[in-house]
Amino acid sequence: MRRILIAPSILSADFTSLGDEIRAVDQAGADIIHVDVMDGHFVPNITIGPLVVKAAKAVTSKELDVHLMISNPDAYIEAFADAGADWITVHVETGRHLHRTISRIKDFGKRAGVVLNPATSLSTLDYILEEVDLVMLMSVNPGFGGQSFILSCLDKIRKLRDRIDTLGIEVDIEIDGGISSRTIGDAVAAGANIFVAGSAVFGSDDYAATIAELRSLAET
Ligand code: DX5
Ligand code: ZN
Repeated sequence: MRRILIAPSILSADFTSLGDEIRAVDQAGADIIHVDVMDGHFVPNITIGPLVVKAAKAVTSKELDVHLMISNPDAYIEAFADAGADWITVHVETGRHLHRTISRIKDFGKRAGVVLNPATSLSTLDYILEEVDLVMLMSVNPGFGGQSFILSCLDKIRKLRDRIDTLGIEVDIEIDGGISSRTIGDAVAAGANIFVAGSAVFGSDDYAATIAELRSLAET
């Protein structure tokens, strides 16, 4: 079976006690910590930058999965790498020089991934798929936590999984947006293996129970 990873997104954490929230999901069984970086330009929201990534790094030994929803990712790769990002993902919609951006992330020794918005075609991966460690498919329009899972992305996951398997390459498929106990089963059946969960985890009373439930639904 493919490895399954559960990645709580701190976007839905209580920012007045962010350090405690990160420690809590770490101890509750999170595999990696998903960090949503938004610039108010590529997406209609502004969140956090390298300073907060550095602070997050100081309170957990789990790898930080930094999702850049910013217009000019190249200009900030170094800052996020230095701040402690372990994975850096960039949107294909923002990449004027996507191949260079991915190479740059790898040059810093980080896991490199590309992200596709819900309406972006898999054909955008044609000349980059074999260069990346993971592809993240958005199952909501990026910008906010707590949105509903867009069902058409299931077919997209299936097609991407077929393509990866046909090529015989090792590329993770991460899914971001609207993941909960109701949706994770379909996403795993379609072929995804890394699951971002923001509101489902941080909106629950028991982080450990929620992460365990998501994991058991994904592993059955
Ligand atoms: C949306 C972000 C997501 C978000 C997911 O733009 O990229 O990572 O935090 O939140 P939920 O799990 O609540 O949909
Ligand atoms: Zn995200």
